[in-house]
Amino acid sequence: MFAKHSTDFLVLGSGIAGLYFALLASELGSVTVLTKKQRAESNTNYAQGGISAAIGPDDSPESHREDTIQAGAGLCHRDAVELIVHRAPHVIKTLLNIGVEFTRRGTVLDLGREGGHSHHRIVHARDTTGAAIERALLDALSQRPSVRIVEHAIAVELMTEHHLCYQPTNVPTCFGVYALTASGIVEQFFARATVLATGGCGQVYAHTTNPTIATGDGIAMAYRAGAAIANMEFIQFHPTALYESDRTGPAFLISEAVRGVGAILRNSAGERFMPRYDERAELAPRDIVARAIDNELKTRGDRFVWLDVRHLDKASFRERFPTIVAVCAERGIHLPHDMIPVVPAAHYCCGGVQTDLDARTTIRRLYACGEVACTGVHGANRLASNSLLEGVVFAERAFASISSDPPPHIGAEFDNIPPWDDSSTQNAEEWILLSHDRQELQTIMWDYVGIVRSELRLQRALRRIELLREEIEDFYRRTRLTADLIELRNLVTVAWLIVRSAMHRKESRGLHTMSDYPYTDDDRWRCDTVIMSDRIECHSLP
Ligand code: FAD
Ligand code: SIN
Repeated sequence: MFAKHSTDFLVLGSGIAGLYFALLASELGSVTVLTKKQRAESNTNYAQGGISAAIGPDDSPESHREDTIQAGAGLCHRDAVELIVHRAPHVIKTLLNIGVEFTRRGTVLDLGREGGHSHHRIVHARDTTGAAIERALLDALSQRPSVRIVEHAIAVELMTEHHLCYQPTNVPTCFGVYALTASGIVEQFFARATVLATGGCGQVYAHTTNPTIATGDGIAMAYRAGAAIANMEFIQFHPTALYESDRTGPAFLISEAVRGVGAILRNSAGERFMPRYDERAELAPRDIVARAIDNELKTRGDRFVWLDVRHLDKASFRERFPTIVAVCAERGIHLPHDMIPVVPAAHYCCGGVQTDLDARTTIRRLYACGEVACTGVHGANRLASNSLLEGVVFAERAFASISSDPPPHIGAEFDNIPPWDDSSTQNAEEWILLSHDRQELQTIMWDYVGIVRSELRLQRALRRIELLREEIEDFYRRTRLTADLIELRNLVTVAWLIVRSAMHRKESRGLHTMSDYPYTDDDRWRCDTVIMSDRIECHSLP
């Protein structure tokens, strides 16, 4: 009943980072991409605003670097930032060569503007940039016979020495993964190198822009396997998700690019409030705008603020944002004649599996790129549209590292990794408990670990999460595996990592605002928060 597969390079996830790596690695050997739903289903597919690159006539990588570092509130790794900003123009050329149809103004690429950027530098495909990239990458991969994409295959655990009878070495090695496939059994996928590209964890919150796949699986798996996990306290809330009182499921995003063309935020009294908070007003970095909205909502007792687009040119608005116009129209909001009700929602995880500049994690033969990784680029707050860029650049770095130092071929040691222990036969008859647990966890995180935090709220969250974690772990051990159960176990692990990291950092910085510690304290806290097994430490920046 146990299937064993082997491949040179195993990629977990089919968003921009995983697919880009697969495309490059297809020249080196066989590549297997495991993806837990249909191949295009990813955060990438929903990206709206675009991908940043200093290619405008008066722009420069240095200016892009300074904006990134400024947004990152003192925690960006300068070397990682240098890497992405200098590589960005090349990334755009490569994506064009692959066939991504970016929007042009005449013959040149149209460059949008977003918060925290001092120049127009957002390359986009109207308001569906991610879908255009995802489509082009999948098309390109369909021409590569050495690449196999396995849909509906959810990775459960990394295979490391932990699965052998002997004690793991100090630095574990990854031999591949156990994955629950469409066959309903857990199969073994062995590889010379494994690349985590499983994306973020927005689903840990009750209100998020992220699709349901974003359950932090890669972070949780890597943590359990002993990898270092960094900066999980820095969760980015996008300021402008569409407010819908009866919504279930992911919130629809109203791209920051809408503010980039001049949209204005107003409170329920009709007042434009952002100039009171920051001189850059609506185009301040995201942490500032989200906090300002949160403050307006709390002080006024409102459920949403308005995004006013009524003064914008009607034809060009419809041309630039056709999807936003269409989705709003389905909800009876006619743009740009009407204002849009918006609220902040969990959007992006700045932390993740810690990597070096070559996308290497602290586990041998395990690489990470894209949102799952913490590369040092984003620091305490990601600059808009730097994420797609980072995913490509670090996929390239993983490829370069593997090409220059190829991992050994699959050897006899792989035979010693036992098949999945499938002795838990109890069916998840009480599956309803799973969805209750997921909702309870999301509500705890939203209520107590949101935009503004406090010691009291975090302690309350931790107590509840630890109880849920124990119950879910017990359920997991006894019950036949399902994708829902795997995700729930990962979500609770990621929630725990976020809360532990947030409790550790006793200051306010970037996306981490603590009412008990309202100031930034560079003397003590200009460092990364790193969790490994049961240790949590501050690591100085490189
Ligand atoms: P993803 O694209 O999320 O892909 C992850 C993949 O891993 C998926 O295929 C998923 O199914 C798979 N997976 C997950 N767990 C498992 C598992 N256990 N086993 C197998 N497969 C698994 N960033 C920008 O730079 N510009 C933007 O304009 C922008 N707009 C955005 C708009 C929205 C609505 C959202 C949600 C995000 C946006 N972002 C944007 C952020 C950006 O889209 C993501 O950070 C980026 O796409 C992440 O890419 P990725 O390849 O790391 O992961
Ligand atoms: C957006 O379009 O506002 C999202 C951009 C991003 O998350 O970088």
